[in-house]
Amino acid sequence: MERAEAKEKIEALRAEVAEHARRYYEEDAPTISDFEYDRLIHTLAELEQAFPEFLSPDSPTQRVGGRASEKFAPVPHAVPLESLTDVFSQEELFAFGERVQNALDGEADFDVEPKIDGLSVALEYRNGSFYRGATRGDGETGEDVTDNLRTVRSLPQSLHEAPERLIVRGEIYISKASFEQLNARREIRGEALLANPRNAAAGSLRQLDPKVAAERQLDLIVYNVQLSSREYESHTASLEALRAMGFPVVPYKLYDGIRACVEQVAWIGEHRDTFPYELDGAVIKLNDLARRAQLGSTAKAPRWAVAYKYPPEKKQGRVLDIAVQVGRTGVLTPRAVLEPIRLAGTTVSSATLHNQDFIDRLDVRIGDTVWVQKAGEIIPEVVEVDKSRRPAGTQPFRLPAVCPECGSPVVRDPDGAFLRCTGAECPAQRLRHIVHFAAKDAMDIDGLGPAVVESLVGAGLVRSPADLYYLSASQVAELDRMGKKSAENLISAIDVSRQRGLARLLSAFGIRQVGEKAGKVLAQRYPNLDALMAASQEELMQVPDVGAVTAQYLTDWFASEQSQHQIRLLREAGVSFESREQLRDSRFAGKTFVLTGTLEHYTRDQAKALIEACGGKVSGSVSKKTSLVVAGAAAGSKLTRAQSLGIPILSETEFQAMLE
Ligand code: IVH
Repeated sequence: MERAEAKEKIEALRAEVAEHARRYYEEDAPTISDFEYDRLIHTLAELEQAFPEFLSPDSPTQRVGGRASEKFAPVPHAVPLESLTDVFSQEELFAFGERVQNALDGEADFDVEPKIDGLSVALEYRNGSFYRGATRGDGETGEDVTDNLRTVRSLPQSLHEAPERLIVRGEIYISKASFEQLNARREIRGEALLANPRNAAAGSLRQLDPKVAAERQLDLIVYNVQLSSREYESHTASLEALRAMGFPVVPYKLYDGIRACVEQVAWIGEHRDTFPYELDGAVIKLNDLARRAQLGSTAKAPRWAVAYKYPPEKKQGRVLDIAVQVGRTGVLTPRAVLEPIRLAGTTVSSATLHNQDFIDRLDVRIGDTVWVQKAGEIIPEVVEVDKSRRPAGTQPFRLPAVCPECGSPVVRDPDGAFLRCTGAECPAQRLRHIVHFAAKDAMDIDGLGPAVVESLVGAGLVRSPADLYYLSASQVAELDRMGKKSAENLISAIDVSRQRGLARLLSAFGIRQVGEKAGKVLAQRYPNLDALMAASQEELMQVPDVGAVTAQYLTDWFASEQSQHQIRLLREAGVSFESREQLRDSRFAGKTFVLTGTLEHYTRDQAKALIEACGGKVSGSVSKKTSLVVAGAAAGSKLTRAQSLGIPILSETEFQAMLE
């Protein structure tokens, strides 16, 4: 694309995005889906990356929800966000009930609610309008995440007949269904999978990229009135009032006496699967609000409620087979293939067995019935074999002595429990290598995930990463499930990746111990790939964070005939070998900067890139280790903290002078 054409396109896209953002945020009446909106931002970001001369601080790619956002202003909670005391058995639950009834001198009503496994937030409304939302933080002070909360569809922006002042507490979560969709999309794009809905929700609420916030469909459920200018008699009455105002309210059931609650607590535990969100317990709360006040709190938690925690869900499944997968670096990983079971809201048909030692320890065999558990990880784990159900004639399982993909001999890693394939031409390794090459933190080729790579390799179109750059749209369009349009999109995504530069290219090569970070430091030191290849092992060891082992891996990799061939093909295909991170000089070497407030002449990313180009580092928070703080307009708590620690503070003009 020509410069002039790019400029025109960038301007048109910016206007389009601004219009959609206005419709979404100001009119609350979007005319395109979140997904389409993301695509627009993504295209714009790609163009800006390819033509950085047109990047400007007011581009929507540099902002959240149309407004620049500090990360993140502190919000003191008007009423502290306390945590709950956990109980793990019926006895402990009864003891809680007795404590409450003894203190109150009589029977009491309790309600039982699911304990949603998300992120606690306090939402403040003024005269019925959403005013501010904050994370829990340390319970006394949270972070202002209002901008991100405005992207939560189930959070009402205005209320029906609300009290003048209202603060409610609730949980932000990602439903199991949205989480599965989100991970499916990430897999197609070759991005790392998110471990669990809770982490996905937390990451989403506390990040600044509007693309990510909008993509992750966050939801809200409220369960407590923190403060209200209107009074309620009971907790359940307050929940009903919240429902009438328009909030999504936690499901609850009311019981007289603690003993009556037990069945509901057990019921929720047994029916965890049927809830649309992950839950890790039940909350049992005293219903009468005046009596709650009478009981008060300990230093940590209220005396009027407890959380009954369920153990992680475990289920039995039958091992149909033990499959052995060969990873990008040749490591053999055994996996139990299971008869599909529903576990913690998702369908599970395989579970990791880690390595030979793990298999030996549990003595897992094909045909066994095993207990499977999901404990916050993406891949479930086999935790125990039910030996009473072992069929006759099973054999202990041994990993093969040769690679199941290419037949090359397998060797045990000297430093660990893993077996590794020695075949340089192993097709399984080759496939994963290409997937790694195209991944988000490497060459970032949009749309080139494992499934597409598999069909490209299967059709014989691609054998190595470099082959990608020789593909034509008509070849790709021939593949199953690939239309003309998606083929063209893929080719243009591959095309754009030619300009990613040295740091990403190095990380894409998949050289052992050379990931994103090492790629970056090497690209800061060397202007291009040829200069890097000419460096000796001793020279490489001078680069910060590069040790003797990494230097050895690098020189070995560059020396191999296979790598040389790849490099030749990439060069001929016009893939850039130039560094974009080259150090201009090392005037900031060893210095850590913190940026705060709004800078007039740079975006945060630009200022960060400039500091890094001079050998400095940028950190998000002020500590004793901070060397300098650059304070722009309306700087807040970071500036105050820097002043109190006596850290030198620069104005933007002074910062500019240092760069000259
Ligand atoms: S009540 C002081 N109700 O559990 C009472 N909490 O360890 C306020 N949570 O951080 C909490 N579902 O984020 C309450 N139905 C529910 C809840 C709930 C989830 C979370 C909350 C809190 C944690 C307590």
